[in-house]
Amino acid sequence: MYPFIQSYLFWLLLALPIFAVADNSENRGEYLFHLANCYGCHTDVENNGTPLAGGRRLETEFGTFITPNITSDEEAGIGSWTDFQFVNAVKHGIAPSGLNYYPAFPYTSYRNMTVNDILAIKKYLMTTQPSSLKHPDHELKFYLFRQFMPVWNWINNYLQARHPVRINRAAYVVDTLGHCHECHTPRNFLGMLDMQQRFQGNESLKAPDITPSEKGLGDWSKSELEELFTEGILPDGDYVSDHMAEVVEFSTSQWSDEDLQAVITFLRKVD
Ligand code: HEC
Ligand code: HEC
Repeated sequence: MYPFIQSYLFWLLLALPIFAVADNSENRGEYLFHLANCYGCHTDVENNGTPLAGGRRLETEFGTFITPNITSDEEAGIGSWTDFQFVNAVKHGIAPSGLNYYPAFPYTSYRNMTVNDILAIKKYLMTTQPSSLKHPDHELKFYLFRQFMPVWNWINNYLQARHPVRINRAAYVVDTLGHCHECHTPRNFLGMLDMQQRFQGNESLKAPDITPSEKGLGDWSKSELEELFTEGILPDGDYVSDHMAEVVEFSTSQWSDEDLQAVITFLRKVD
């Protein structure tokens, strides 16, 4: 036993519970928050808006969504929400009132997040500056009632069930947290992701094919992908533009080296 106590392994095992507790802190929530890019949609970046106070206009073919305030403010934000309400919103797209959210809030990707991770994000959000900003309603096509969303969800779930969830760390970063499908996978006329054409690009968003095929990332080297995700630089030396510039700034550039490497290997292999 004595030599064991002297070994590193013993001390490591002793320290593990401490790491585990530290791991569940705000830092982990902040890291997950970057990976899921909650900041980008919930901040009016173009007009130097208050962080997370919403008001960003998301133009889509179904109309314009105006993102809500998710600061810790008790009235305008989510400061008074319970853990249950928050998990229900992020995982199932259901508001505290019981009404459904529109999938412009990418809960269809976030649904595979673990409850622990969602609560870590909430914990981090609660440490941010409150803001009392309130916003007008979305400007959507007249037929888009929230009351239809359960039907949309039902059809969407039915279609998605044929494409099993990919389970490993890189898939969690790409499919779930990074919600890369939301832009890089084409949609059907109901606005549902067509997973049969996974990552083959979405023309209306000008998001290119990122499959490992020739049309996609086939001839990108590992270091080219590293440069894109960390610095936003394309192989021809230009900076990546449009929505992806923000994704890089707020999300992929924050990836730990371990996650970056795992994602690159994953993207270069997965069909
Ligand atoms: C692609 C843009 C986008 C991203 C990314 C995004 N959201 Fe949202 N979020 C929205 C939109 C749009 C709504 C409003 C949906 C509606 O009204 O039906 C919303 C609504 C919400 C709500 C409900 C607020 C309320 O007052 O009812 C919460 C909570 C929320 N988002 C949290 C998050 C968190 C946490 C993340 C990151 C894990 C995140 N969002 C990422 C677009 C986004
Ligand atoms: C909000 C929409 C959006 C999201 C989310 C998004 N992208 Fe992009 N992505 C784009 C757009 C638009 C471009 C094209 C940018 C350009 O042409 O400069 C792009 C470009 C790229 C490129 C370069 C491809 C090429 O051929 O030039 C890669 C690789 C990429 N994205 C990977 C990802 C990954 C991985 C994720 C998830 C972590 C992701 N993207 C999330 C919109 C998005």
